[in-house]
Amino acid sequence: MRTAVYPGSFDPVTNGHLDIIERSAKLVDKLIVAVLNNKSKSPLFTVEERVRHLQIATQDFKNVEIMSFSGLLVDFASKVNSNIIIRGLRGVTDFSYEFQMALTNRSLNSDIETLFVSADTQYLFFSSSQVKEIAHFGGNIDNIVPPVVREEIKKKMKDI
Ligand code: PNS
Repeated sequence: MRTAVYPGSFDPVTNGHLDIIERSAKLVDKLIVAVLNNKSKSPLFTVEERVRHLQIATQDFKNVEIMSFSGLLVDFASKVNSNIIIRGLRGVTDFSYEFQMALTNRSLNSDIETLFVSADTQYLFFSSSQVKEIAHFGGNIDNIVPPVVREEIKKKMKDI
């Protein structure tokens, strides 16, 4: 069985991430979306919230599973018997960071390959950081994030 891991912070998950998930899930038997649990960062949404958002937003994709991980990504991939890491590329600005990360991961475990998937052009212009900034200033994020994030980010912004 071919399993791929799609890792990220997903704080919050965007429609661009969901497009990458849908495209990648068609290429493999099982796609594990791996949410980074990084204790040193202070995310807007807890890891449990981010996992739940992804579970709701991907419920129609039957071969997609949402998990969280901490520590090295390559160790997580080995643990779930995957030798494929998926990363989304929005353009050349992402490339040097992503290429460096792919080579770092290869130096840590040469059996694991990174595959880059590009989202549809309509999703190329937004990142999770921009979503948070737009929401913070009361801008409209309806077309950028799934409904579950849309509702919960409004509540979060009220509490801040
Ligand atoms: O969505 P992001 O924040 O760009 O995702 C980054 C992520 C989670 C893929 C990356 O930070 C990661 O893999 N962290 C785990 C630690 C690790 O394995 N580091 C070595 C590779 S740089």
